[in-house]
Amino acid sequence: MSLGRRLLGGLLALILISAGLAWSQLRAPEVVSILMAAPFADATAPLVERFNQEHRGRIRLSITRGPRDTESISDLAISSLLLGQPPYDALLMDVTWLPKYAEAGWLEPLDPWFDDSDLATLQDGANLGNSYEGKLYRWPLVADVGMLYWRTDLMASPPETPEELVSISRELQTTDQAKYGFVWQGRQYEGLSCDFVEVLEGFGGQWLDPSTGEPRLDSNAAIASATWLYELINSGISPKAVTNFAEPESLQAFKAGDAAFMRNWPYAYAELQKPDSAVRGRVAVTTMVSQSGEQPTATLGSWGLSLLNDSPHKSSAVEAIRYLTSEAAQRERFLNQGYTPTSAALFADPELVAVSPVLPDIGRALSVAVPRPPSPLYAQLSDVVQRSLSAVLTGEQSAEQGMKAAQSNSEVILQSAGGQA
Ligand code: GLC
Repeated sequence: MSLGRRLLGGLLALILISAGLAWSQLRAPEVVSILMAAPFADATAPLVERFNQEHRGRIRLSITRGPRDTESISDLAISSLLLGQPPYDALLMDVTWLPKYAEAGWLEPLDPWFDDSDLATLQDGANLGNSYEGKLYRWPLVADVGMLYWRTDLMASPPETPEELVSISRELQTTDQAKYGFVWQGRQYEGLSCDFVEVLEGFGGQWLDPSTGEPRLDSNAAIASATWLYELINSGISPKAVTNFAEPESLQAFKAGDAAFMRNWPYAYAELQKPDSAVRGRVAVTTMVSQSGEQPTATLGSWGLSLLNDSPHKSSAVEAIRYLTSEAAQRERFLNQGYTPTSAALFADPELVAVSPVLPDIGRALSVAVPRPPSPLYAQLSDVVQRSLSAVLTGEQSAEQGMKAAQSNSEVILQSAGGQA
């Protein structure tokens, strides 16, 4: 080949290479869309920005900010899944959604991307509710567990039994040291089911019988639990308005110094330490009271990321999931918003414990946390419990009537689905 031809060939190759490079730079990045409840979308925004800078030209992560309540955002996700071709690649899912979504075939197993060494990093409790029928479908973003907050300036140690919680509250209220005893989530929504699971466990009951899967909502323990909650309101230990309280309203009342106790999730601790908090530096956490006084009781919460099996961007979506759930991301979310990490190593991390001395208590609560029934029918079962409890709390029905109705309505739901929880 002559020199001229060789030079021409080289030039041509150079032109082709640089055109290819320019083309790949011009090519639009793969867009990965994730639906998240508003508080998590907000908490994740700085990480998303950083991800997009680091993956410029290749992947663009876009978060859809959905409603706050678990039921509303699940309804939104389900309607788009039922319409087909949902606009999302992944969803941030509450722990209770997974059986239904997995059973419906909407989720892609994550097993090809996460192995036993990943699972081994998780804190006890954060490793629950991520799998269904032996497949991993969700990777946890934040761990969550129900806690009892108590005022260290009003008592030397927290109550251990329901009776103690009541008697300490009465004493503080009659001596004008506290306006209310106990604030919690009494509105008719998922938070009420969460509170109920803790109280029920504390009274020695269970929502579903673990061996048969049948409801146990008319048991003595369930009736005693509903009675106790009603009496808290009836006796003024909890404000009447508690029947309209979700997490933010309970937090607001406790933060203003209006109550001796609060049931809430761990994120509330960071909020209580802010300069505008009337109880800053005067709050500790423990697990909810139980009748034996010995057995800790706590409802398992948590939110995790799941991949939709229709996603055309699976590996990029997993890259984003890994980024958002990395130890560095967990640390940042904990320090900035108080969201509980999922990695066991972080629960003993000196920097995190210095900022939040309650972190080891949260870790202990997670290791005893009780899941809500892991059933594809959970949303219906929970709705029945919420309706009945709400009728009891507002005095429309007695605890016995309410829990009997919850029992028979739950039986109908399970029977019409073939007796399977
Ligand atoms: C928290 C929990 C979640 C629960 C919800 C109820 O977000 O993590 O599991 O369903 O509260 O309000």
